[in-house]
Amino acid sequence: MRILDRDVVIIGAGPSGLTAAYELRKAGKSVAVLEARDRVGGRTWSEDMDGATIEIGGQWISPDQTGLYSLIEELGIETYERYKAGASVYISEAGQRTVYTGEDFPVGESTVAEMNRLIAEMDRLTAQVDPDAPWEHPRAEELDMISFHHWLRTLSTDEAACNNVGLFIAGGMLTKPAHTFSALQALLMSASAGSFANLVDEDFILDRRIVGTMQGVSIAVAKVLGQDVFLNNPVLKLDWSEQGVRAHGTDVTVNAKKVIIAVPPNLYSRISYNPPLPRRQHVTHQHQSMGLVIKVHAVYETPFWREDGLSGTCFRPTGIVQEIYDNTYLGESTGTLVGFISDTQADAMFELPEDERKAAILEGFADFLGPQALDAKVFYLSDFGSEEWTRGAYATSYDLGGLFRFGPDQNKNVGPIYFSSSDLAGEGYQHVDGAVRMGRRTAVRINSAIDGTDAEPAYDGVRSLFGTRDSLEA
Ligand code: FDA
Repeated sequence: MRILDRDVVIIGAGPSGLTAAYELRKAGKSVAVLEARDRVGGRTWSEDMDGATIEIGGQWISPDQTGLYSLIEELGIETYERYKAGASVYISEAGQRTVYTGEDFPVGESTVAEMNRLIAEMDRLTAQVDPDAPWEHPRAEELDMISFHHWLRTLSTDEAACNNVGLFIAGGMLTKPAHTFSALQALLMSASAGSFANLVDEDFILDRRIVGTMQGVSIAVAKVLGQDVFLNNPVLKLDWSEQGVRAHGTDVTVNAKKVIIAVPPNLYSRISYNPPLPRRQHVTHQHQSMGLVIKVHAVYETPFWREDGLSGTCFRPTGIVQEIYDNTYLGESTGTLVGFISDTQADAMFELPEDERKAAILEGFADFLGPQALDAKVFYLSDFGSEEWTRGAYATSYDLGGLFRFGPDQNKNVGPIYFSSSDLAGEGYQHVDGAVRMGRRTAVRINSAIDGTDAEPAYDGVRSLFGTRDSLEA
């Protein structure tokens, strides 16, 4: 057992923990990062599969994600445009397949008008929501009492419009059924991306990818931190007092002034705190739970859909596979499709034997893109739900009423214990950008606390360190 003394110990080498460590190091503080897995990157993870680069976890970056953009610029990492050329495919609830171009789903004029009306209403409210404090909206309590599913139906009787709009946040983002989270939680999701219109625009939200993969960002930061990152060291016990902490890894113990717990909120209770955390944190942490989505990759000899003038982008509001995109990595001659199977559909898929599951999913791909989609040379299902150090995907969100009740305290430190995660972010919530923003913000707070300069620096001052959407637009 190695015993180390550091200013700050960071638990978790995902993008949030690594960014925090990197910023603290730049500010002259000594750090040690203890990571449970045998790799860095957390929910970002890439593998070479039969010559194709597969991003198993987080991968896309959107133009407003200035926190992540500024970090990669600093590291000399570049981005490239996702393949988007060509028409998209939509399959209606009745099973009708339509090839279309433009932004609107081919769902009939009245449903398009109703969807646009719902989106406008979402945007009207989103503009009033501060992503860093959604619980301060004047109607926050009321909006947190009603499920997103039921709230949409108070606004419209067009079932197809409600399903299509619901899909973007339910299956598409929080990866939970729309009846399990509140309208306020949905508004936070859209406020975190600037607007609901941004979220529903796949060309915005899935704009670009990282050269060297998204996990490559964490690998680059870890390289700078060098010997201060300790893999295979899950922290299951944390001693703490106002004077400092002792984090117990498998073969490393770190004594430090402060600790950053940079793991997803659903895993906070994996750590045994001595003394226990206060009541407020004990209760709060039980109301943040992971969604569930299967990210499916199928690699083909060629991107055959492009020859038919298709972009590979496909949607349907019901069915097993509800979204597909061309996910061919930069410069590869093979073609890669990625599909998403969310919440209850994911449950159903995991009930099936492996060969039946593969057949059902590829048939879902073929419904959109034809029988060639059945001949995948690589077929890979991400299964973050089975990963001990994540337990779901993409991220955590509150149950009904939880955001209003517990949200205001989610970012408060408990003595020397600070929490940092994409799942606690406002801008960039549930995204790598949010992880980076939270890492930086937490580093600034800790740095000032250690130096005794300003225990809680003004929020705007922290924000200006890494840019806001306003500075991006300026
Ligand atoms: P993250 O979970 O990444 O890292 C936490 C780290 O803590 C992990 O390395 C874990 O092993 C470690 N850990 C846990 N418990 C520990 C313990 N007790 N001791 C030590 N270490 C411990 N985002 C995006 O911007 N664009 C996208 O396209 C996508 N797509 C996407 C797809 C899929 C399938 C997933 C699962 C996720 C995404 N995301 C995404 C979300 C994005 O990946 C996510 O927001 C960030 O990785 C979160 O970073 P954090 O550092 O907060 O947590």
